[in-house]
Amino acid sequence: MNIKFVTPRGLLEAVRDVSLDIPEGASVGIVGESGSGKTVMSRAAMGLLSGSNVRRDGTVVFAGKELTAMTREEVRQEFGTGMAMIFQDPMTALNPVRRIGAQLAESLRVRLGMDKATATARCIELLSLVRIPDPEAMLRKFPYQLSGGMRQRVMIAIAISCNPKLLFADEPTSALDWEGNGKRVARLLQQVAREYGTMVLIVSHDPRLLDFADRVLHMDDGRLSEPEPKSRKTKESDKPDQESDKSDASEPQGKGVAAW
Ligand SMILES: Nc1ncnc2c1ncn2[C@@H]1O[C@H](COP(=O)(O)OP(=O)(O)OP(=O)(O)O)[C@@H](O)[C@H]1O
Ligand SMILES: [Mg+2]
Repeated sequence: MNIKFVTPRGLLEAVRDVSLDIPEGASVGIVGESGSGKTVMSRAAMGLLSGSNVRRDGTVVFAGKELTAMTREEVRQEFGTGMAMIFQDPMTALNPVRRIGAQLAESLRVRLGMDKATATARCIELLSLVRIPDPEAMLRKFPYQLSGGMRQRVMIAIAISCNPKLLFADEPTSALDWEGNGKRVARLLQQVAREYGTMVLIVSHDPRLLDFADRVLHMDDGRLSEPEPKSRKTKESDKPDQESDKSDASEPQGKGVAAW
């Protein structure tokens, strides 16, 4: 895929000759400096890049369908529950005046048609999945009552609530202190991929995320490349948070359901 923007100062080549394949159950990390094209590439991969100044060639195939041939609305309808996103700052994504339980239950009720009792039970389950202690108490809290790490876990719970096939996390740990919360959130994302077969795409400028993705690529000035072998030697993620890993962590074999 190639993506260019028409700007007053000429064409800006944001993504150049990028090709990527994400197998089911794999977490792929993209690390690169600010402005290298990570967000543009990922949004395009989810069929979310639109605008009259966008020039794109290439295709994106998700679950056997070509997103690049669809309108934004068609993408939304087709994959409304198939793709989910997590952003850098969970405070802006969460509604400050609604309780966590209401926000988490909303998509379950609207998108999956669950009744109130079923949705509440599922909310508790989801909060436990993202390792939130005392999930029932969490349902009654407001976002401002939570730490940044807890808010990000709630966002992950919301993102996985409708069982997405692809989870895209753009700078999910940048607003967190790494040792306290960032590392745990990174590990959780990898576990989501392994335990639920979700494709997880994590984008960050923080190379410490390298340890928590099955495959890591560098982005530099719009181009994707494999990292230097030495940067992959540590494997903190081999120490699971709580539960054991059911799947093996073999390298993606290129038979993925998302490719571009
Ligand atoms: N809508 C747009 N119109 C014109 N240029 C754009 C547009 N969106 C992004 N760009 C440019 O494309 C390039 C890549 O931007 P992108 O947001 O993907 O970087 P990034 O790697 O995500 O950076 P960061 O780490 O700061 O989030 C940048 O030069 C940016 O200015
Ligand atoms: Mg970005």
